[in-house]
Parts: sequence; C-alpha cells; structure tokens
Amino acid sequence: METELLSVVAGSHGREAIARAASLLRAGRLVAFPTETVYGLGALALDPAAVAGIFAAKGRPSFNPLIVHVASIEAAKALVREWDDRAQAFAEAFWPGPLTLVLEKAPSVPDAITAGLGAVAIRIPAHPVALALLEEVGAPVAAPSANLYTTISPTTAAHVLKSLGGRIDAILDGGATPIGIESTVLDLTGSVPVLLRPGAVGAEELSRSFGPLGHPSAMPEESSARVSPGQARKHYAPAGRVRSFSSPESLGGLLAGLGPGARAGVIARSARPEWASVAAWLQLPDDPAGFARQLYGALHALEDAGATDFFLEEVPASAAWDGVRDRLSRAAG
Ligand code: TXA
Ligand code: MG
Repeated sequence: METELLSVVAGSHGREAIARAASLLRAGRLVAFPTETVYGLGALALDPAAVAGIFAAKGRPSFNPLIVHVASIEAAKALVREWDDRAQAFAEAFWPGPLTLVLEKAPSVPDAITAGLGAVAIRIPAHPVALALLEEVGAPVAAPSANLYTTISPTTAAHVLKSLGGRIDAILDGGATPIGIESTVLDLTGSVPVLLRPGAVGAEELSRSFGPLGHPSAMPEESSARVSPGQARKHYAPAGRVRSFSSPESLGGLLAGLGPGARAGVIARSARPEWASVAAWLQLPDDPAGFARQLYGALHALEDAGATDFFLEEVPASAAWDGVRDRLSRAAG
C-alpha cells in the first residue's frame, strides 16, 4: 500500500491533516501520529480487526499488549472495571503526560489489546496533535511505538517512514517528539503500584507523591499484569553489533579489536578524543532529558550512516537516568 504523508508542521494544513488522519482511523485504518514521547502507530482500540492490523504491520508478536490512548479521564474510565481514588490521583497528577496506567479492564476491551491479560494499559498523551486527533476520532486509539518489532523507536515522521513505509495507511507529521523515549508504565492492579517500564516520568517523582513502588518480581500471583510482556531483553535495537563502554580507555580497547571492514559509530556524553578513529561520534547532552530527546535520533542516524558496530557510553547509575539506561541496555540486547 502507499503510505500517505499528512503534515501538520508545514503550512496551514494542520486541521485538514488531522481531519484526514481521524477519518482514516475511524474507517479502521492504520495511522502513525506524534505523541510527546515517540510516534505511535494508531488504530481503533475497540475494533479487533483494526488492532490486528497493528500487529501485522509491526511484525509484533500477539503476546505483547498495546497501550490505549484517550483524550479524557472520562474516556479512560470507560475502559476499566473500576476507577479508584488511586487511579484518579495518578491521572490528575500526570495526565496528559508520559505515564501509562495499567488497570483491570472492562469487558468492552478486546483481548487482542491486552494480549489476553485481564488488565489494560491507558494514557492521555500530552502532545497537542495527538490530543486533537483523539478528540476528532472520538474513540480510544491503540498505539504502540510506530516501528517494526525490536527496531529503534521513531521520534520523527522520517523514522516512521523508514520502518513502516508501505505497510501503513498514513503518517501524521507533527515534527520531532519532545521527550524522545517512551512513557513510564505503572501497574495499579495490586495493592502497591509497580513500575513495569521506566520512562519519561521518574520513579522518584512517582513515589514522592504516592509512596514506595513495588518491583515486578514482587508482584502477587493473582495480579493479572504480573509481567510486562513487551519488555523483551532485545528491543530498540539498531541493525548492527551494539556494545556499551564505561570510559574512553575501554572504548579504545574495543575499537582496537574491530576488523578491517567495520564502521564504528559512537554515542557518548563526552567529546571525541583525538585518537579515536571512528566513522561517526555523536555527542549527546549530559543531562537525562536532553540525552533522551536525542537518543533514538542518534541511533537512527548511525544506522543510516552505515555503522556496523555501535558503541554506547554508559550513563550515570542515578535514578534520573533510569529511562535512558533501560533503553541503552535493551539496544545492546
Ligand atoms: O510512550 C509510549 O508509551 C508510546 C507512545 C506511542 O504512547 N507507546 C509505546 O507502546 O511505547 P509500546 O507498545 O511500544 O510499549 C507498550 C508497553 C510494553 O512494554 C507493554 O508490555 C506494556 O506497555 N503494556 C501494554 N499493555 C499492558 C498490560 N495490559 N499489562 C502490562 N503491560 C502492558
Ligand atoms: Mg515499542
């Protein structure tokens, strides 16, 4: 199929582009759209055939559940069995925003969305284009990151086109996404909230207002979302061999071991030392938010530059870097 490009950024066609994207979604088609974290691949969440299209386009295994995006807390309530005070408090504190809440699902939510689990993941995104689109669609929209399974998530429309061009109906181009890594996923099905995926909202920020968080391994047997099945070890991975390094000295050793045809690409917070002969060295900001914003773009850029070997500098062990550290370790498999 031909993938339609609908631009919100270029010129005065924003409204028309969003209206076109919404009408495609309402017709059961697949449309990628920007959120504040990464681009999502949208389809009507309550339409099992449309949802099946997401899994087919991404090559995503059916055991990996999807996040449902809504425009209001009212719309979220309709998707869950019970909306309690705790869900209300998290939603009021963090929505619209990069926090996904996992709650026992309502019967109307198809099994394909939850991969057969009894719980559904929901968020209200904070991107103006995403919100306008959701309002125009008037129904919940399921959206995983808009990339082929296990590959690098997209932070621009060009990244989506590279991964899913020809496989989806349209891409709504709203420019680069401001946060750059995926939402934090928090399970609220048990007595203690459990962090299933670190992300844009830090664990410290969550526990400051709501007390300590549990760990996935400590979740009770009866919890329906005991595991976050999407958390495959290898994820967000560029095409090539990926390794991490802790210091310029250790990188030196790794580079010395490369074969003659290798093209090394480095992502680091530090500047390139004189001696490092590599095909590309991308220096990212030395703060977690700035680093997150540019990480996937840097991985895509090295991939596009034909890097065969990716070297990722380790980031600090502090909680502020949790989301970034998780993505770096998964990129390395
Ligand atoms: O920022 C984001 O969350 C982006 C944008 C597009 O919203 N979406 C995203 O979706 O990252 P995806 O499909 O790439 O990641 C969804 C994550 C996976 O780790 C999945 O296992 C978890 O959410 N998840 C979804 N439904 C769940 C459920 N019912 N129980 C537990 N984990 C769930
Ligand atoms: Mg993803």
